[in-house]
Amino acid sequence: MGMIDVRNFAKSFDGVQVHKKVSFTVNKGECLGIVGGSGVGKSVVLRSLIGLEKPDSGEIYIEGEEISKYSEEQLIPIRTKVAYVFQNGALFDSMSVYENLAYPLREHTKMSESEIAKRIHEQLSEFGLAEAESKEPAQLSGGMQKRVGLARSIIIGPEVILYDEPTAGLDPYNSLKIQEMILRLKAKGSTSIFVSHDMPSVFAVCDRIALLLDGEIKAVGRPDELREDPDGLLQKFVSGEAG
Ligand SMILES: Nc1ncnc2c1ncn2[C@@H]1O[C@H](COP(=O)(O)OP(=O)(O)OP(=O)(O)O)[C@@H](O)[C@H]1O
Ligand SMILES: [Mg+2]
Repeated sequence: MGMIDVRNFAKSFDGVQVHKKVSFTVNKGECLGIVGGSGVGKSVVLRSLIGLEKPDSGEIYIEGEEISKYSEEQLIPIRTKVAYVFQNGALFDSMSVYENLAYPLREHTKMSESEIAKRIHEQLSEFGLAEAESKEPAQLSGGMQKRVGLARSIIIGPEVILYDEPTAGLDPYNSLKIQEMILRLKAKGSTSIFVSHDMPSVFAVCDRIALLLDGEIKAVGRPDELREDPDGLLQKFVSGEAG
């Protein structure tokens, strides 16, 4: 088994079956890209991995532990282990960047205030965000907000990170900065899923890429395999011939 195993995940909304039987594995330390057209159900799969949605049928294993029917209380340790990086950063508007990053540390750890300060300074400088520390989200550009949002999502040191379109709408500079953050976290051993329409970023950070189409994972391959297989489905998706 991998760090994450999804088996025959099925889910309908309002009588429409979005997921028929989605199955995939993410190995420890690996970054799996999930690509697919708008509305195929990528975000629902990610949210299900931290129990924000429940499949109608199928199983979700996190390190071999089947979590799909877990209660809110049972999900608490799962949500410490698995971080979901929200698309918009989901920062608290009325708090400074420092306070935004301190929040999860105060909630989920027993760190002292001086340990928290040290951790935040390290994290911000590692990600090139030191100058943002005392600012409020409204004073930052959208790209900076997304980078701070990512920093906040991972500050408690999750083993698994779920990225939902982290580079969407970003200029090349901020997109590259996000890629660097992800590669840095990967070098430290994080396991991740990267959902994105931004194919250059997908190719830059993912070890394998899976195509979600018609309610199933239709193809999985390494980036180099995709490049060598011009007739493959994934290649067609990348070139815009298959949605
Ligand atoms: N809470 C919900 N209630 C009703 N329908 C929902 C809900 N969540 C998702 N859906 C539907 O499920 C489908 C898949 O949604 P999802 O957000 O997972 O797509 P996606 O692949 O992430 O798309 P995008 O690339 O645009 O982000 C969509 O048709 C959406 O309308
Ligand atoms: Mg989505």
